[in-house]
Amino acid sequence: MSRKLRLAAFLVALVALGGGGWLWWSSQAVHSAGSLRDGLVSSVTVGGPFALTNGVGKTVTPADFAGRHMLVYFGYTFCPDVCPTELGNIAVALDMLDEEDAERVTPIFITIDPERDTPEIVADYVQLFHERLVGLTGTRDQIDQVAQQYRIFFRKVEDPEHTYYLMDHSSFVYLMDDNGELVSMFAYGTEPESLAAAIRSSVRAPQSGV
Ligand code: NI
Repeated sequence: MSRKLRLAAFLVALVALGGGGWLWWSSQAVHSAGSLRDGLVSSVTVGGPFALTNGVGKTVTPADFAGRHMLVYFGYTFCPDVCPTELGNIAVALDMLDEEDAERVTPIFITIDPERDTPEIVADYVQLFHERLVGLTGTRDQIDQVAQQYRIFFRKVEDPEHTYYLMDHSSFVYLMDDNGELVSMFAYGTEPESLAAAIRSSVRAPQSGV
């Protein structure tokens, strides 16, 4: 890894930590009656409706995943380090689930770089990690909106020495229940075992909102 890439990876990690700190703070500030379960949980509203585009150009909304949990991660396919590591962890976690549990959660990758990440590029990229991963992109406005709903920070980082750019971005994994409510969020680098255990216990829990 070049020095520049190492620096970029470090900066991304730093931003991830900074974002985590902010979110922890905001969750504590607003949090009062929210229940603490696995991982970092709060009663802050995270998530919500979205309209994005899948690998075959079809519009996808949360209704497409109705009755299932969602495991949501934001990133971009040019990411040199953080995204591949986290998607690798997600893939390992998915393989730890038995089939019945796995069928009750849809793993979703949403790009924060729709200028480069076309539907085809995102779809091909996620298949490198796991065949069940759904890759979504959208217009700049659609991505900005969903990123805001999930409290995702991101920023384009231009590099005058290269023709490409990097993105700083926060790197959380969100576990949403079958009502689209946040169950847990996991910091970058959470062990696959922890992700799998949280998914398992959540999909097996009695239906929360019905
Ligand atoms: Ni990334």
